[in-house]
Amino acid sequence: MNQGKSSRKGDKDVGDRLGELVTEFLDKRRRVSDILNKDVEELLKEALSRGRKGAEEDVFLYLRAMLGDLAVASVQPSSKFLVRRVIKAMDLRTARVVVEYGAADGVITRHILDAMSPEAKLVAIERNAELCGRLERLRDGRLVPVYGDVRRLDGILRGLGLTQADVIVSGVPFSLFRPRARHELLSRTTELLRPGGRFVAYQMTTHLIPLLSDYFSRVETEFEVRNIPPLFVFKAFK
Ligand SMILES: C[S@@+](CC[C@H](N)C(=O)[O-])C[C@H]1O[C@@H](n2cnc3c(N)ncnc32)[C@H](O)[C@@H]1O
Repeated sequence: MNQGKSSRKGDKDVGDRLGELVTEFLDKRRRVSDILNKDVEELLKEALSRGRKGAEEDVFLYLRAMLGDLAVASVQPSSKFLVRRVIKAMDLRTARVVVEYGAADGVITRHILDAMSPEAKLVAIERNAELCGRLERLRDGRLVPVYGDVRRLDGILRGLGLTQADVIVSGVPFSLFRPRARHELLSRTTELLRPGGRFVAYQMTTHLIPLLSDYFSRVETEFEVRNIPPLFVFKAFK
């Protein structure tokens, strides 16, 4: 990493700078071996040496969780660029009931809470115990954290007495679900959404587009490269 970049280091977190490295790679300004062998190692070392309280845990939280549970499907939380894109896609201005699938430690959850109305309610579902423990630390009376599997959505909703949502957002890895489970989750999702409600999903591949088109009246696609890995963001309207 050259000196010019070092002078700006303090302004950005590790996730954002990893995202920039990927952007440089996609632009073919960097070779992938440079990124993997040198810069990523440097970024991780720097994060650890900063002495920020909890830095070590923060850097390795997702990686550790994923090594023990492949369904975590990510070695680090979404970058601020992806979070911004997802929050914009959700359009929370008038939402009163919001549901999040795969909330992890709350990296997007926090921003949903910032963007939604004081009267709104957010049900955030996470299947990994360690990540859900972090989610439960978020203190906000509008948040209902749920340690559970979205493939058991009916039971979760019944337990909460929830029958309708305005916006649903999902980071769960559909590609790891069996075909039947994908269909069931999308079917439950459309049933839960109010007419005109929207479903926002961020995913690594476009495999979800045909399925979304089966269940929703309109699907829009965006792509965010400034994230590890770069992700598609789908906006589907009931
Ligand atoms: C790609 S990560 C996204 C995490 C986080 N929302 C972010 O933006 O970085 C997917 C998350 O979905 C969770 N997950 C995977 N399968 C799930 C399931 N069946 N039910 C609930 N959560 C699930 C994983 O544990 C992980 O936290």
